[in-house]
Amino acid sequence: MTSDAHTGTTPPPSSSPSPAPVPTRRLGATGPHTSALGLGCMGMSGVYGGGDERGESVATIHAALDAGVTLLDTGDFYGMGHNELLINEALRTAGPSARERAVVSVKFGALRDPGDGWGGFDGRPAAVKNFAAYSLQRLGTDYIDIYRPARLDPDVPIEETVGAVAELVQAGYVRHIGLSEVGAETIRRAAATAPISDLQIEYALISRGVEADILPTLRELGIGVTAYGVLSRGLIGGHFTSDQRLAANDFRAMSPRFQGENLQHNLTLVESLRKIAEQKGVTVAQIAIAWVLSRGEDIVPLVGARSRKRLTESLGALDVTLDEGDLAAIERAVPADSAAGDRYPSAQMAMLDSER
Ligand SMILES: NC(=O)c1ccc[n+]([C@@H]2O[C@H](COP(=O)([O-])OP(=O)(O)OC[C@H]3O[C@@H](n4cnc5c(N)ncnc54)[C@H](OP(=O)(O)O)[C@@H]3O)[C@@H](O)[C@H]2O)c1
Repeated sequence: MTSDAHTGTTPPPSSSPSPAPVPTRRLGATGPHTSALGLGCMGMSGVYGGGDERGESVATIHAALDAGVTLLDTGDFYGMGHNELLINEALRTAGPSARERAVVSVKFGALRDPGDGWGGFDGRPAAVKNFAAYSLQRLGTDYIDIYRPARLDPDVPIEETVGAVAELVQAGYVRHIGLSEVGAETIRRAAATAPISDLQIEYALISRGVEADILPTLRELGIGVTAYGVLSRGLIGGHFTSDQRLAANDFRAMSPRFQGENLQHNLTLVESLRKIAEQKGVTVAQIAIAWVLSRGEDIVPLVGARSRKRLTESLGALDVTLDEGDLAAIERAVPADSAAGDRYPSAQMAMLDSER
């Protein structure tokens, strides 16, 4: 299997709406066509530390749109609305027809508190409509392209949560229904309730749990994938070093894969990958993204670039062609299950229906 080849060049930020060379893929049999690479905006709202880089965040979204990236992913709980307001600003200032070109994917359901804490998930139908009303206001739009529960609410049958989103589709507030981090059985129940465009789930060289049951189920049902964490939150992005200081509220400060011996082991995998990247004249991040792109036309990787520099590097992955020899070498360098440490802290792992 090979990844798509195309020019992948990122023009300087401008308001030009001219068509750009990023290829498109379709999210499932019923979902929207989007750019083959999406921009995940979460990191722009402090999840990976950092202060107020609002200007660079907006410039990164503009550069993505200018390059032809149409899929923008957010969650109403990323920075308690901060991320949606950022996307609002970027779309308003991006030039003509930016909103129409963008495919805005929004997650809901995670409960927050004023101290940055987390309070579980709410998938009740009344809550779903409440979340949507606030998101539409913050985004400054009258429709959301893909709306999805961030996690399964263990107290609410998925049919009720998805049924409420289906009512929002009927009413014109939402165009497509997505899912996030749920397992095969929940996917089947959701798909029996309403058409599902895609499942958002972590999928990377070192996060391959999706391959056993979930991916075959999605393919059987004609549901696409938006893959997140393709750089394992920067761990396999080629820029992370063992002496990097992480703020206390940086997700990575709590992530098992970034701790002590786990981190040392995982960085040796990155060095193995770097040798392959260097032989091909590309970067580690580009190899990691190209590998996810090569997993199938039904998969759209989200990259968590929060600067134009990282975005440009990510877009270069669309130019990388991986032949059978490359894929075998990558597999040898980073075998499935070779990562040390779970992909989430144990309390958050317990909330993943996809891991049951
Ligand atoms: N459904 C879910 O449960 C869920 C969970 C998490 C995320 N998501 C979505 O998926 C998106 C992507 O996830 P993620 O942010 O964890 O993904 P990621 O792309 O694996 O990690 C992003 C981090 O990688 C580092 N990096 C290194 N090289 C990079 C490059 N060339 N391009 C981009 N980043 C590079 C950056 O850290 P530095 O900036 O420090 O270099 C960046 O913050 C999120 O924005 C969010 O929309 C969904």
